[in-house]
Amino acid sequence: MGFHTFPVERADKLEDPSRYRFCSREELLEMLAPDADDVVADLGSGTGFYSRDVAPFVDTVYAVDLQEEMHEYHRTEGLAPNVTLVTAGVDSLPFEDDELDGAFSTMTHHEYATDETMAELARVIRPGGRLVTVDWSGAGTGDDGPSMDERFSPDEVVGQLEDAGFSLERVHDRPETLAVVVRR
Ligand SMILES: C[S@@+](CC[C@H](N)C(=O)[O-])C[C@H]1O[C@@H](n2cnc3c(N)ncnc32)[C@H](O)[C@@H]1O
Repeated sequence: MGFHTFPVERADKLEDPSRYRFCSREELLEMLAPDADDVVADLGSGTGFYSRDVAPFVDTVYAVDLQEEMHEYHRTEGLAPNVTLVTAGVDSLPFEDDELDGAFSTMTHHEYATDETMAELARVIRPGGRLVTVDWSGAGTGDDGPSMDERFSPDEVVGQLEDAGFSLERVHDRPETLAVVVRR
């Protein structure tokens, strides 16, 4: 698998509403099922396309991205009042142990899926907290999204998360994307 970051020059593509055909706001919220007082993280938040969708339903969203230029784009698009931008890699998060009630990741897992990152997520999400991972599927067609050799299958993603101590709640295998919901 190739690990890389999404090019900032193509950030405008992340704001295209047609992306909802791969993951809608509604399904993301249904899977995360947050409480209004939850503190959650958007892992690899990019331009904030999904941070803005989740923000009205939680207390705080930490929008985590390692590219400061993506945060600049996020500010330009509009920063919700309860979204805090965090410049960090998902493998080294500036959060206390068990600090997060939950986290979500859209189309980014394949860019950061290392053992170190999975362990870091298990450290910062509190026991019982939910992690929702939506990403391009290795069982997809490759017609949209990254090349097939960069992707993981639903079973691989489940295995990575279970190895880090998460428990599987749901897995969805769709035409082009996977969705995996686990609990710490
Ligand atoms: C494909 S974009 C998706 C952005 C957003 N999740 C969305 O769906 O609109 C991936 C984003 O994750 C960020 N990223 C990649 N690897 C990362 C890592 N290890 N830690 C933090 N951010 C990362 C990239 O900088 C990029 O902004």
